[in-house]
Amino acid sequence: MAGEPQPHQTEPKIAMLGLGTMGSTLANAIIKAGHDLIVWNRGSERRERFRGKCAVAETAVAACEAAELILCCFSSYDAGFATLDDVDVKRALHGKTLVMMGTAVPEEAVKFGTWTSENGINYLDAKIATTPAQIGAEMTVIFYSGLRELFDRYETQLKSMAGRTTYVGEKIDAACLGDFAFLSVYWAGVVGSLYGAAFCAATGLDLEQYFDLTKSFIQEVESQISSFRTMILNRDYTSEVHVALDTDLGGAKLMAKATKAAGLQGQFSNTLVEIFQNAVDRGYGLKDTAALFEVFQAK
Ligand SMILES: NC(=O)c1ccc[n+]([C@@H]2O[C@H](COP(=O)([O-])OP(=O)(O)OC[C@H]3O[C@@H](n4cnc5c(N)ncnc54)[C@H](OP(=O)(O)O)[C@@H]3O)[C@@H](O)[C@H]2O)c1
Repeated sequence: MAGEPQPHQTEPKIAMLGLGTMGSTLANAIIKAGHDLIVWNRGSERRERFRGKCAVAETAVAACEAAELILCCFSSYDAGFATLDDVDVKRALHGKTLVMMGTAVPEEAVKFGTWTSENGINYLDAKIATTPAQIGAEMTVIFYSGLRELFDRYETQLKSMAGRTTYVGEKIDAACLGDFAFLSVYWAGVVGSLYGAAFCAATGLDLEQYFDLTKSFIQEVESQISSFRTMILNRDYTSEVHVALDTDLGGAKLMAKATKAAGLQGQFSNTLVEIFQNAVDRGYGLKDTAALFEVFQAK
C-alpha cells in the first residue's frame, strides 16, 4: 500500500471533489445515507449549493485535509491532475485514500495509480455504470479496482452511492474495463430503443404504445442474456439454438429494407447486417446468436 492508511475507530470523514451533475448527485447520496461529508468544487456556485447540507471547503487542500476518504468526480483525469498535482494537496492526501470516479481509458487509471503511489497516496479507481437518476439505487453498479483491503475498509461508505458496489480486481485499470462492458449493454439498449421510437414515428405507429411495450422487449433481452451465459460458459452454441445467426441476418436485412422504405437513416440497421453477415461468412450461420461472443474475438 502506498501510504500508511489512517485507522478509523469512528466513521471516516469523506470528501467529494467535483460537484458537476454526477459529483453533486453522488454527494447527495452520501449525505442522505448519513455519512460525514465535506465537498469542494472549483467554481463557487456549485459549491455554495451544498451550504447547509454538509461541510463546504473553500479549497481542495482544505477538503483533503479534513477527510480520510477523498472521492473525485471531475470531467476528466487531466482535470484531476490540474487539481491534485499541487504540493499542498499532495501533502494533505499523504497516507489517505483517493478514489477517481470519472470516466477514463485504462492507461489514464494506470498513470494515476503510478502518480498516487509515487506520492504515498492509497488509490482506488472507480467507474460509475449508471446515470445520475439511478445513483443510490439498490441495483446500481459502481466498479472499483485497486487493493482489496482498501475497498473492504470503505465498502460501507461507498455503498451509499450504489447498491451493487462491485470490486473487480487488484489491476488498477479493471474498473475502467468493466465500465466499457457496461457501456456496451447500455449503448446497445438506449440506441436501439431510440431507433425503435424513430421507426414508430416515421411509419405512423403509436409512440405511447411503443414505450408501454419496451419493458417487455427488455425482458426478452434479459432472458436471452441468461441463455447466453450458459452457452458461453459451456462454449456450446449448437445443442440448443434459440435463434440461429442465419435467422438474425435474415431479420436484419429485412429491417434494413424497411428502414430504407421508411426514409430513416440507415446506420443502425446496416451495422446489424454487417455484424451478422460477418458471423455467417465465418461459418457461424447455424449456431445460436450467443456465438457472436466467439466472432467478436476471432482474428
Ligand atoms: N453525468 C453522467 O451521466 C455520468 C455517468 C457516468 C459517469 N460520468 C462521469 O463523471 C464525470 C463527471 O461528469 P459530470 O456529468 O458530473 O460532468 P459535469 O457536470 O460537466 O461536471 C464536471 C466537473 O468537473 C470539474 N472540472 C472540470 N475541469 C476542471 C479543472 N480543470 N479543475 C477542477 N475541476 C474541474 C467541474 O468543475 P467546475 O464546476 O468548476 O467547472 C465540475 O465539477 C465524467 O468523467 C463523466 O464521464 C458521468
